[in-house]
Amino acid sequence: MLEFCASILAADFARLDRDIAAAEAAGINAFHIDVMDGHFVPAISFGSLMVRTMRGLTARPLDVHLMVETPLQFVKELAEIGADRVSVHREIPGGPGPALAAIRAAGMKAGLVLNPETPPEAAAPYLPLCDQLLVMTVQPGRGGQAYLAGSNAKIAALHTLLRQAGSAAVIQVDGGINTTTLPQARAAGAGSFIMGSAVFKGDIGRNLQALRQAAV
Ligand code: DX5
Ligand code: ZN
Repeated sequence: MLEFCASILAADFARLDRDIAAAEAAGINAFHIDVMDGHFVPAISFGSLMVRTMRGLTARPLDVHLMVETPLQFVKELAEIGADRVSVHREIPGGPGPALAAIRAAGMKAGLVLNPETPPEAAAPYLPLCDQLLVMTVQPGRGGQAYLAGSNAKIAALHTLLRQAGSAAVIQVDGGINTTTLPQARAAGAGSFIMGSAVFKGDIGRNLQALRQAAV
């Protein structure tokens, strides 16, 4: 089953409740929350308070993307708030192993994120700890960028790697996903599509309809 996941970074924060309700009415499957610490990526976005706010606004799964250097320190609080899935980067100092294990131990689904320049093989040692594998299809840190060339080949390589490892992890794609790039990522093996601009800019209902048509 394909999953459409709305990245709230592109929502109108002054009318977050309206945008979330519109995305739900249009059939969105889950919401993606981009936490940035100003170290792992240059920008600061929002943190656990936003996850709490979102938990109050929706019963759909909350998918938290931690673009932070030290994710381990946030795991317990995110579990208490009721986050469903938490993803951490392969590139963090010390590696993602302890955070991935802690996320699962706290009862949430664990995700591993690969930056564009990180090769597919770098995921291999962590696959037994992962429920999802997030492929950054833009540089992390901001929305509205163009899907990077080379992403399709990387998704396909990860798809093969997962099969060989006997992993049932879902491949997620994040960045520059729209009606043109979604079918490409899908054909390469992605199953979950994280989308900010393509969902929230313009008419949310019409956007979702066009994205669903593109996925057929
Ligand atoms: C980028 C974030 C994405 C971002 C995607 O660092 O991880 O989730 O919101 O935005 P769009 O879909 O606009 O490229
Ligand atoms: Zn993200």
